[in-house]
Amino acid sequence: MRKNIVAGNWKMNTTLEEGVELADQINSLLQGKEKNCDVVICVPFTHLTSVNAVIDPELIGLGAENCSEHEKGAYTGEISAAMVKSTGATHVILGHSERRQYFGENNEQLLAKTQKALEHGLTPIFCVGEVLEERENGTYNDVVASQVEALFSLSPEDFSKIVIAYEPVWAIGTGKTATADQAEDMHAHIRKVIENKYGKEIADNTSILYGGSCKPGNAKELFAKPDVDGGLIGGAALDAESFMGIIEAFN
Ligand code: 13P
Repeated sequence: MRKNIVAGNWKMNTTLEEGVELADQINSLLQGKEKNCDVVICVPFTHLTSVNAVIDPELIGLGAENCSEHEKGAYTGEISAAMVKSTGATHVILGHSERRQYFGENNEQLLAKTQKALEHGLTPIFCVGEVLEERENGTYNDVVASQVEALFSLSPEDFSKIVIAYEPVWAIGTGKTATADQAEDMHAHIRKVIENKYGKEIADNTSILYGGSCKPGNAKELFAKPDVDGGLIGGAALDAESFMGIIEAFN
């Protein structure tokens, strides 16, 4: 069956020193603790190697927040999937709405990035989600379905390695979370879209995380929904205690 996962997305926050300290705190808090989910922290590229050195890979998975769609070569400033993998990372966030919105990442590019991540043995955490206007004009189910369908040229074997994160853009960093029912409706819809293409077994085994103002205070209600398999956490992942509070929502 699919895994429960709580993943942190640190975004462009923390210096190297602060990031290593935060990772170290999370690692210490998890030591000897009973937990009913996998934990992943996705950190800036500059932090990957140093964070990898202070976390126990049995307790915490390590992820990047993006990678290039190209294999290697003359792409100044870019970071390849192979480079990410070589730091010890296991995961990579792809298609975050901030990448789509501010850096113009499109479906074609995101498919290529996903393929590169998979070729190099990284687990993509593939983000989808509608903007406020699409929520209000009622097109959100179609919008999110088409973002998921951008991956449908992948083989069933490859698709089954992907984690999906549903992050309604209007709920990110706004303090305005989707209700547990809104999240459940969309997660069930995404699972149906996957089932229509890849069949029930793959759909049932795909972890679908919720992201957007998820906090210790609302995580339990969200995670109690049958199709919500955990969270992708922004702001609350930058504090070890509050990140732990979200992890403990699965206990
Ligand atoms: P917040 O938890 O800060 O709303 O961010 C969610 C997010 O974008 C995680 O990727």
